[in-house]
Amino acid sequence: MKKVIIATKNKGKLAELEEPLQELGFSVEILPADYPEIEENGASFEENALIKARFVSRDLNCIAIADDSGICVDYLDGNPGIFSARYANDYVLLPGETKDQANNRKLLHLMRDVPMEKRQCAFHCAMAVVFPDGKEIIAHKTWEGRLLFEARGTNGFGYDPLFLDEELQLTGAQMEKSVKMGRSHRAKALQAVIEAFRSLEK
Ligand code: IMP
Repeated sequence: MKKVIIATKNKGKLAELEEPLQELGFSVEILPADYPEIEENGASFEENALIKARFVSRDLNCIAIADDSGICVDYLDGNPGIFSARYANDYVLLPGETKDQANNRKLLHLMRDVPMEKRQCAFHCAMAVVFPDGKEIIAHKTWEGRLLFEARGTNGFGYDPLFLDEELQLTGAQMEKSVKMGRSHRAKALQAVIEAFRSLEK
């Protein structure tokens, strides 16, 4: 069985990527908890995904898959974008608050006076696969929605509770995982990567 290493320690992402890759016939491994942080110093989602997948593929001599993702808010000129994970690094965490919750608090604060009609946003996901022989696959997909004024739902991770899918009138955190996997930026990027995998094998 072919082995693929998912180059992330983000449990939310792992939960979404592991099963579809296993269904494709891969044995899926994750990075050890003590694996060093890989510096994401690219200028785009694509560059950061490639940096992570290239590093792990070369270092561990394996097929590596990495994604770089985030939320882009139109009113904020596309921010937090590639800085989504570290958006509230300039905020002090409240007692018991997680980093994800602080990121959401900052975003809600900056958007507090912006009316609903100007709250368009989109999740972006660039997904990269790098093979030991240097072959690379890259896909970039989006999921359009609207930023709410307060959190709704407890599923998912990150900015999911603030992101409204207008067609379903549910946030990412109000959806079952299977529903999110039918619509999300990461699911679409993974699908594109899987199709590219299949055509490489032909
Ligand atoms: P990365 O690990 O550098 O790609 O950071 C991704 C950032 O975007 C984190 O803050 C995530 O919480 C957020 N993010 C990415 N995808 C999603 C999603 O599907 N739902 C909610 N937040 C997400």
